[in-house]
Parts: sequence; C-alpha cells; structure tokens
Amino acid sequence: MGEFIFLFLFCVLGFQSSVLKVTQARFQATKCGDAGPDIHYPYQIKGRHQQYESLPGFELLCKDNLTTIHFPSYGDLEVKSISYDTKNIHLRDPKNCAHNVFLNLNLSLTPFHYFYVLKNYTYLNCSTTLPPPFVEVPCLSASSHHVYTVDSTLPVPGSCQGVRTVPIPFAYSPYLSDSMLGLRLTWDLREPEDNGAINRTRGSHTSRNIVIGSSMCVFVMAVLLLIRIKIRVATRNNYQKQEQLLQS
Ligand SMILES: *[C@@H]1O[C@H](CO)[C@@H](O)[C@H](O)[C@H]1NC(C)=O
Ligand SMILES: *[C@@H]1O[C@H](CO)[C@@H](O)[C@H](O)[C@H]1NC(C)=O
Ligand SMILES: *[C@@H]1O[C@H](CO)[C@@H](O)[C@H](O)[C@H]1NC(C)=O
Ligand SMILES: *[C@@H]1O[C@H](CO)[C@@H](O)[C@H](O)[C@H]1NC(C)=O
Ligand SMILES: *[C@@H]1O[C@H](CO)[C@@H](O)[C@H](O)[C@H]1NC(C)=O
Repeated sequence: MGEFIFLFLFCVLGFQSSVLKVTQARFQATKCGDAGPDIHYPYQIKGRHQQYESLPGFELLCKDNLTTIHFPSYGDLEVKSISYDTKNIHLRDPKNCAHNVFLNLNLSLTPFHYFYVLKNYTYLNCSTTLPPPFVEVPCLSASSHHVYTVDSTLPVPGSCQGVRTVPIPFAYSPYLSDSMLGLRLTWDLREPEDNGAINRTRGSHTSRNIVIGSSMCVFVMAVLLLIRIKIRVATRNNYQKQEQLLQS
C-alpha cells in the first residue's frame, strides 16, 4: 500500500503546483534590461509572451533596456520604479522637463492620477521676464519667451498669456530638481465588465482542469489497484494450487 500513498501524494502535489502556476503567472515578474523595475500584474510588457489579457493603460514598452510607458497626450515616459503595495509608479521625463509633462499630460482616459495632492496653477507665457519672486521654468522658456507657473487665482500680467490652468502637484521651484520632484502616479484597477467575464471564465477553466486532473489521478490509481489485486489473487491461487499439490 506504500506505493499508493506515495502515488497519491505525488498526484496531489503535482496538481497543487500546476494550480499555483496558473494563479502565480500574473505575478511572475519580468524586467526590461538588468536594472529595470519588476513588471507584473497589472502591468505587462507589450509584445512579450502574455499570460493574461493586457489591461488598457498598463502596457509598458522596453526600449534600449529602458522601461517606458506611453501616454497619448504626452509621449513616452521612463518608468523608474513601481511600488505594487502603495500603487505608486515613479516616472521620469526623458527630456528632463517635469513641468512640460504637468502642462500636457492628460490622465482623464487613463487608469492613473497623480500620487500627490493637487492644486490649480496657471502656466503663463510671457514676452518679458517677471520680477522676483517669480522664477521662470527653464526647460519651457527661451530668450524670446518666459514660462511661469503661478497661482491660478492671480491676475494675468499684461506681458503674459495664460497658456492653461491645470491641477498639478507643484509650482516650479529652482530648489526642487526634476529628478527629486519626480512624477509619481497611482492607479485604479477598475477592470471593465468584460474583463470580469474573462476572469470568471478563466477561474472556471482552472477549476475544470482541477476536476479533470483529479479524475485522471483517481482513474490511474484505480487501474493500478486493480492490477495489484489481480496479481495478489493470482499468487494466492498459485499458492493454493501448490498446497493442494503438496497435500495430495
Ligand atoms: C541591454 O542589456 C544587455 C545585457 O545587459 C546588453 O548586452 C545590451 O547591450 C543592452 N542594450 C542596450 C541598447 O543598451
Ligand atoms: C483631457 O482629455 C479629455 C478627454 O479626451 C478632455 O475631455 C479634456 O478636456 C482634456 N483635458 C485637458 C486639460 O485638456
Ligand atoms: C481646479 O479648477 C477647476 C475648475 O475651476 C475645479 O473644478 C477643480 O476642482 C480645481 N482643482 C483643484 C485641485 O483645486
Ligand atoms: C510661448 O510662446 C512662444 C512664442 O509666442 C511659443 O513658441 C512657445 O511654444 C510658447 N510656450 C508655451 C509653453 O506655450
Ligand atoms: C478576478 O479574480 C480574482 C481572484 O481570482 C479576484 O480577486 C478579482 O476580484 C477578480 N476580478 C474581477 C474583475 O472579477
């Protein structure tokens, strides 16, 4: 009977690991390059072998070993890190101009919003420089025009044009470097209805596989048990025959 217990355990363990594999596939981390952040559910690298349907907005791209994410309203941003616990994705503008991102990035049709508390600021485009304490945003300014981020309640000076008023985390400050400032977004995982359906069918697939697998296990064990019984009966018959021969 020892072999049967062993076989049974083997079946059970084999099954458990295959079920775990199915459920863990989503959380199997991949990377772009050696130093990139771990990428797993809900993120996925576009074009790589996919274990589940990619979620809109959560597709990342690998470009020259850099992990990037594409926003139609802005373009590509580099992904510095992803914290899955706090749902915080830390981005960097390849052009090192966080305020250009703040000015243009429109997150309304994405699963993301800023990780910080926001405040409305107005971007001003001025033909002349404004006196201190105003400080122009260097990466948006040139000798002919000077761009400022000002409190949205401030009246627009005569030499300036309001470009746009947007809720952003910070006004420009020369004391906050772009890399320190960083672009931190958080995400909402509100899967659409049809994704829920996929989820359910996938769940039922898993349970169906479990049922099929365990019935196969039981069948194999039953066959083996039958063979064993037959061998036993045969040997007992043999033994009885030998006894009869001896007695006669
Ligand atoms: C990407 O990383 C691999 C392995 O570290 C290296 O061989 C390859 O040259 C890198 N490619 C680029 C474009 O940096
Ligand atoms: C962001 O995009 C949405 C949908 O396309 C649009 O309605 C909204 O006006 C845009 N916001 C800005 C600030 O452009
Ligand atoms: C920014 O201004 C808009 C329009 O006045 C308002 O709806 C929004 O709540 C404001 N956002 C913040 C963060 O104050
Ligand atoms: C500011 O104005 C200049 C010229 O008027 C223009 O070239 C530039 O793109 C504008 N900048 C922004 C951020 O709107
Ligand atoms: C998908 O399934 C997982 C567990 O299998 C569950 O936690 C999650 O809420 C499901 N999502 C939807 C949208 O049904």
